[in-house]
Formats: sequence, C-alpha cells, structure tokens
Amino acid sequence: MSKIRITDTSLRDGHQSLWATRMATADMLPVLEKLDNIGYHSLEIWGGATFDVCIRYLNEDPWERLREIRRNIKKTKLQMLVRGQSLVGYTHYPDDIVIKFIEKAAENGIDIFRMFDALNDLRNLETCMRTVKRIGKHAQACVVYTISPVHSVQHFVDTTLRLQDMGADSICVKDMAGLLAPYVSYELIQALKENLDVPIQLHTHYIGGLAIATLLKAAEAGVDIIDTASVPMAFGSSQPPVETIVRALQGTEWDTGLDLHELFEIAEHFEQIRKHKGFERGVTRISDMKVFEHQVPGGMISNLYSQLEEQKASHRINEVFAEIPRVRADLGYAPLVTPTSQIIGIQAVLNVLLGERYKMCPGEVKDYVRGFYGRPPVPISDEIRQKIIGHTPVIDVRPADLLEPLWEKARQESKDWAESEEDIITYALFPQVALKYFEWRKARSAEDIPQMQPNEYELAVVENKAPVAPPKLKPKVRPNAASRGDEVMNIDEIRELMRLLDESNIADLELQKNDFKIHLRKYVAGNTPATSNPVASAAQPLLVEQAEEILDDNITEILAPMVGTFYAAPSPDADPYVKIGDRVQPGQTLCILEAMKLMNEIKTDFAGTIVDILVENAQPVEYGQTLFLIQKD
Ligand code: CO
Repeated sequence: MSKIRITDTSLRDGHQSLWATRMATADMLPVLEKLDNIGYHSLEIWGGATFDVCIRYLNEDPWERLREIRRNIKKTKLQMLVRGQSLVGYTHYPDDIVIKFIEKAAENGIDIFRMFDALNDLRNLETCMRTVKRIGKHAQACVVYTISPVHSVQHFVDTTLRLQDMGADSICVKDMAGLLAPYVSYELIQALKENLDVPIQLHTHYIGGLAIATLLKAAEAGVDIIDTASVPMAFGSSQPPVETIVRALQGTEWDTGLDLHELFEIAEHFEQIRKHKGFERGVTRISDMKVFEHQVPGGMISNLYSQLEEQKASHRINEVFAEIPRVRADLGYAPLVTPTSQIIGIQAVLNVLLGERYKMCPGEVKDYVRGFYGRPPVPISDEIRQKIIGHTPVIDVRPADLLEPLWEKARQESKDWAESEEDIITYALFPQVALKYFEWRKARSAEDIPQMQPNEYELAVVENKAPVAPPKLKPKVRPNAASRGDEVMNIDEIRELMRLLDESNIADLELQKNDFKIHLRKYVAGNTPATSNPVASAAQPLLVEQAEEILDDNITEILAPMVGTFYAAPSPDADPYVKIGDRVQPGQTLCILEAMKLMNEIKTDFAGTIVDILVENAQPVEYGQTLFLIQKD
C-alpha cells in the first residue's frame, strides 16, 4: 500500500488564489486544532503573498501569525513558500537577508521550506537551500512547470536531478497556472520517479478543471504527496478540493486515509468565514479557461482584471491576454509565476494601453532583460533586448552576487521602529510598507489613529447607507489640494467646509452627502482635535483665497497616469526626497507609482519649481489624480 499524503494549502495558496490573500489570523485560529488532527502531511500556511498582505493590507505582523499558528499546530509540519532569492518579495535580496529570513522563519515555526525560482535558474536557490540544510530543516525544491518549445519532460528531469544533487530533500512540481494535463502529469511524474530518489510532490491549480484528473494520474504514476484545499477554499484558481480527492482514492492502493466527516467540519468553518467576508466561491469563467492559451496563473488573472478596471480599460482584457504570450516569447519563455508573471503582465498591459510595443518599459522589465532576475530559459533576441535596454550590458553572474549586504543598513534605518530582528527583516524586505505598518502599530498602541499634525483636516465617511462600500477618502486633507480624486465631495465643497470650520472656530462637523455621512475635523495642536476655542493663530492653514492664488497660469499639474501607490522619489541633492520648493529639471523623476507590484517612475518633461505635493507618501492614488503642482520656468 502506498498511501498518498496530502498538504493542505487553505491557509496560504487557497485564500491567496481566491480571496486576494485577505484571510486574517483571527479567521484561522478557530480551525487550527481540527486541521492539526486530520493527519495531513503538512500545512502550507506562510510565505508567497501572505507576508506582504499582512503588513500592507491587514495591519498584521506576519511573524506573529506564524507564531500563533505554531502554538496551535502541535503535530503537523508547517510549510512555507519561498520565492528563492526573492523570499516573499518581488526582487532579489542579498544573501545576508536570505540567510536571516530562513533562520528566523525556522525559529518561529516553519518545518518545510518549499522554494522555487521563477526562471528555474538554480543559482537563485543556492543560498536558500544551503541555509535550510544547515539548520536541519526540510528543503523542498520546486521545478516550475510551464509549456514552451524548451520545457520538455527531459528538461524537467534534468532540472530536478540537479536540484537533488544540490541537496533537495524532496521535489515539488509547481504547476501554478493549472496547465499540467493528466496524461502529461502521468508521464512527467513517472519519469521523475524513475530518475530521482527523493519524494515527489505535485502542486497544481484547479482553474481550467484539469487538476483532479491530473492528481489522479499522478497518483497512478507514483507521486508521493499532493496539494489540496478545503472545499470553500478550493476550485476556481485555487487547488482542487481535498474532499473530492479523498473520496476518489478511497479503497484504492492510494487511499489517503483521511476522514471525510472531519474534513467537512473544517469546510463548514471556512464557508462561514467566506460568507461573512462576502467572497465568491471558486468559479471558473470562460476567460479563466483561456489559461490554456495565455498561461496566466489564477492569482494574476484577478490582479490583471482589477488593474485594468482601475485604469478604466477592463474591456481590453482580451487584447492583454493575446499580448501576454507574445511578450513571453520575446522575453525567453519565462514561466508565468511571481515575479515574472507581473513583469510580463505589466509589459503586456502597457503594450496594449499605449498602442506601441515596448514604448514604456518599467524598471523591472529592464532589470529582467539585463539578467537581474536570472537567466531566461531561452536567450532574448538582440532586437527585443535593444528595444528595451538599448546597449546597456547584460550580466551573467548569479544576480545576488552583485548585491551589497543589507542587514546592517536595515538595522540602522529601522532602529526607531524595529522591536525585534523579525521587524528588521520585515523592513529589509518591504521598507516603505514596513514603516507604514510600524507607524500604525505605534499609533495603535498609543490609541491615537491617525496621527494628525496641527492644522490638518481629517475627513472620513462615518456612516454609509449605500449598498456599496464607501469610497476611499484620504485621511488627511490639505487645504490647498487642487484635486482629490474621490467621488463623495469635490474640492470646492471641501474648501467650503474648511472655510466654515476656520470661520466658526469649531473643531468638527458632520454632514449628510448623498448616502454618506461625512465627518470633518480639524486638528490644532499635537494630535488633539480642536476644541471650541479659537483656532491657534500660529501656522494658520492656507486659506482658500491663497490656495486659489497659487493656481495661476504658470502652475502645471502632474497627473497620475495610472492607479497605484505613490512613493516619494529620492532627490538628486542631499535631501532624501523630492519636496516642496525643489527645482526640477526635464527628465527628473518626481515620484514612483507602484502598480501591479511594479515601480513606475513618473518624470517631469519641463523645468520648474515644485509648489505642492498633493499626495502623502505610500498613499494610493487614482487615475488622473493630481500628484504635483509645478511652477514652470
Ligand atoms: Co500555487
């Protein structure tokens, strides 16, 4: 009897694929004991996008999540997904950070490190693998599955043999887009079993509906471990449901031995959370089925949809899907998985939206072409390379060899915030987002959110009678803002309210606007809201008349060309960032807009002086929103 063992992915890939990774630790806690008792081979609970989303959107410490889960999972092995040298981020990190990260992840509870490199460039797994082996944890190395003229069964056998030689304790075939067809799966797993000594695991996605058959054929071919998720966290772009696989294999030589009744109790829990949070069941749309054409993995399809929607171009999704395979061929048939899926995805989006291929290339695309992510499976043609990076040279060493150590620097830079070595790692991985999170954490512990400065206004939707979520409002409003990009109130209305507050010397007011109750309050000193005392006279806010005065003819607005997150750009002089009063030159980078996880530099094409910056650092911006006011020379 060769039982098949199962890894449950509900707490990582399941919600990453279906719920934009929005499951909170609190949603997991009540079901952990039951999960621990099932008899799973392992629980994949950490890594991938979960780390980033914890600090970026959930205001959670990912390390604390790991410790909470470890406290509650006493018998079952905990597993994480590591993007090789990129860890849980989107860019390569220096070796010292990779080593620290792996050590700390193990210390906090990870047993099995599943690692992959998007390009199957094994140099990018060396440091990870060496560290995992040194600390005595399980190193599972992935081969990323894709379809291309070079990705034959023999290619996968050769790659995995090298991974075994590097010390992999097991091999995982990672089919992130659900492209592995049942009979190919049989052939591939059989070839791997014949050639390798270590256990073979198969990770696939349901998306186009092949996955159940693919797992069953893999079982016949002798696969050791397979990945599934609890039914409310399965189907669609996630894994196939565990319940189906358990039932399908019952009474066969591959019987999983898992108890369906106990599995349904777990499913009930996730179903309640799903209903409560309003997430859809895993569904497959016709456009999802086209994965067989465009190969875009599930997690990225929803990303592309929402990005296009935000750019008001969702009707062009099919053009983007048609462009993706062309960009992929141009860029050497990289498998589509983070970060190559974003790199190829955004280039395809830009090619479609700008109407000219490679007219604009984000920094990441240039870095990819220069070899900073590793070696593409097929060399990039001279023509495409020159279009993207001109005559800039391409590197041929292991990309991380070019990176300076970062630990000491990160430790220094984060010393006012970091409370642990884990915090320093968080900062090293996502500096901007981490600082925002640390600030929030500090503010929360002082029960003082948000931290306002004197003479700043806070505008919030306090009551929402509309059937939809309230539109996002900036928590801070600058009186001289020229445009705010939200739909509840326009700038004139806001100015009117501010004028009212200034003139009446009241601290705050509430008013009804359409379906929303709006609350505006003014801060006068420290973080204390103004009382009914007269507003402090020093540092009076810019009044409406003055604000309008600056908006004279010579002032040019710099608008956001896309939806994204605004980051201040480093200033060319000694100051760290571009700021009000700075002189700018044509071609100078004013800020960085992060969209689709990529950094896009926004430049000025004229000289002038920055009169105002209308967005706070690390804040989301809408399409067409004014970012800067610049007085032209
Ligand atoms: Co996956």
